[in-house]
Amino acid sequence: MLVNQKKILVTGGAGYIGSHAVLALKNAGYDVIILDNLIYGHRDLVERVLKVELVIGDLGDRSLLDDLFSRYSIDAVMHFAAFAYVGESIKEPKKYYRNNVANTLTLLEAMKAASINKLVFSSTCATYGVAQFSPITEDHPQNPINPYGASKLMVEQILKDFSCAYDLNYVIFRYFNAAGAHPDGLLGEDHDPEPHLIPLVLFTALGKRKFISIFGTDYPTRDGTCIRDYIHVLDIAQAHLLGLNYLQQGGKSDIFNLGNSNGFSIQEVIDTAIKVTQKDINVQIGDRRPGDPPILVGSGEKATKILGWKPQYSSLESILSHAWQWHQKRHNE
Ligand SMILES: NC(=O)c1ccc[n+]([C@@H]2O[C@H](COP(=O)([O-])OP(=O)(O)OC[C@H]3O[C@@H](n4cnc5c(N)ncnc54)[C@H](O)[C@@H]3O)[C@@H](O)[C@H]2O)c1
Repeated sequence: MLVNQKKILVTGGAGYIGSHAVLALKNAGYDVIILDNLIYGHRDLVERVLKVELVIGDLGDRSLLDDLFSRYSIDAVMHFAAFAYVGESIKEPKKYYRNNVANTLTLLEAMKAASINKLVFSSTCATYGVAQFSPITEDHPQNPINPYGASKLMVEQILKDFSCAYDLNYVIFRYFNAAGAHPDGLLGEDHDPEPHLIPLVLFTALGKRKFISIFGTDYPTRDGTCIRDYIHVLDIAQAHLLGLNYLQQGGKSDIFNLGNSNGFSIQEVIDTAIKVTQKDINVQIGDRRPGDPPILVGSGEKATKILGWKPQYSSLESILSHAWQWHQKRHNE
């Protein structure tokens, strides 16, 4: 197929979600090149598992991008590279606006100069802010409550304006919580620091942490703990392939949630982790944290209807057992 002879550039392809997308692209026959500055990415996984070309460099380096775009024939860009720590974004907003917004603008300018007109962008449910209804659909108002969410919303706006003024078509995916790992144990989540619930619960099962904290058990939910939507990372990777395909077939710019319309409570995550790992997991109950909404669940119906996205691994058991396999292996390496 002609489209597959051109390369797909994956920014942040050495990171958690990007690496799973790279493997899915490779398995689908695409020729892939990664751009990653390795601030959080894992060179060992690129070399041992992904085995695709890795350009070590920064998204904000315009001359590097110009050189890359002139040396390779790139059909489309999947743009994962960003900072994604909500708490840090509140303390250090300049870091987030610089990397997530300004560096993305540099990428878009370089793409325009090189006439590369297809982009798949990683946005987030954090652009919605406090949920006014549930499950959240793409037309829910966007009022982010932290600089991380604001930085992603700014990029969404830039993409809309670029696509009106210039030749750019985009697919924006607003993910809810990415979770799980490759079922073959090849790839998984390895953030440092790790802010996400599922790895932290599994670190407790591995004995790397003494306890897992639950912040608030008096929310108006089925068991009093907060409910979140967890999307298996392989289902996110699959959506990216579909989004790319859609753009390659001339699909118009659009925005899709990646959610399961069906959340799990913190207590359910911990209970399932105990079942999957067969370990005791110590829990410490704390007070509610300000800004934590009781329920954050997204509807993925539009992605299913327009892109044909069908999540395969939405059960908590799949997510936790794949993640457990990965964390045990990574812990023993
Ligand atoms: N993890 C989630 O639950 C989640 C949810 C919603 C959205 N997202 C978005 O998905 C994307 C990927 O998230 P992740 O969890 O895989 O994060 P990650 O930190 O594992 O991956 C990001 C990668 O980008 C690289 N990077 C960052 N800045 C760069 C720069 N200036 N130049 C080159 N490389 C750079 C990092 O080294 C890293 O390898 C991010 O854009 C994030 O905002 C993630």
